[in-house]
Amino acid sequence: MTNTHTISTPSREHSPQPRSYLMCRPEYFTVSYRINPWMEPAKPTDTARAIAQWETLYETYIGLGHSIELIEPLPGLPDMVYTANGGFIIDGVAYGPSFRYPERQPEAPAFMRWFADNGFQVAEPVSVNEGEGDFLLVGDTILAGTGFRSTPDSHREIAEIFGREVVSLTLTNANFYHLDTAISVLDPLTGDADANIAYLPGAFDEASRAILDERYPNAIHVSEEDSRILGLNSISDGYNVVIAKRATGFEAQLRERGYNPIGVDLSELLLGGGGVKCCTLELRR
Ligand code: ARG
Repeated sequence: MTNTHTISTPSREHSPQPRSYLMCRPEYFTVSYRINPWMEPAKPTDTARAIAQWETLYETYIGLGHSIELIEPLPGLPDMVYTANGGFIIDGVAYGPSFRYPERQPEAPAFMRWFADNGFQVAEPVSVNEGEGDFLLVGDTILAGTGFRSTPDSHREIAEIFGREVVSLTLTNANFYHLDTAISVLDPLTGDADANIAYLPGAFDEASRAILDERYPNAIHVSEEDSRILGLNSISDGYNVVIAKRATGFEAQLRERGYNPIGVDLSELLLGGGGVKCCTLELRR
């Protein structure tokens, strides 16, 4: 696994684009409740270690030339580090979250206030949705997950707000409860025909698998083994793909396709059921 942040020459098909991301330092990170199968409140967590690992992720993005903005962590909200759930933003419009479980609901106003204070137009949500955890922009299309967190109503809502095609996909395995645990967007900026994704077919119902197969015939199918350490929960700038360090199979698949995988160890944050992507919200201004 690549430890260095050196950027080798991109292949012609894959060129990196600088991105802007929102992150939240896990100052209050712990696992004190259980809202997904990964979380075991009886098991101890190490907040200092979570912070150190998160800082490595932060530095990795800085090294790749991305710009990182930060939201202030709030005491008593240990999951706030997973900023991907804080909203979904396209063209300066931030659709706010409405969390499924009461434990995370106080995060919603904090994220929406941050968006408003930072020049985004906030679209207040009507339906239960967990932001970019369940909504992924691929080319001009929004892939939208349901089954565990975001509701089908939220899919209709984002179609109206953003005026884009929304493709609903149903997750069926509780370990992969957010869409971003089962799909990784590798080429978000290219047209749909070329856009490439990686996913775990077994995380979806049959109808969703058929849709994915038809729309993305060249997609990378990632193993259950790599997916189980949230290998798919990754961030691509179109060339550099930041992934879980232990996802070595996925790493090889990415390399074969001309991408530059960069492994980061977020084992402590995995105790909360989140990985690289969960800690990263894309700010599309
Ligand atoms: N403990 C958090 C929850 O269950 C983890 C969120 C992970 N975020 C993500 N985008 N998949 O809500």
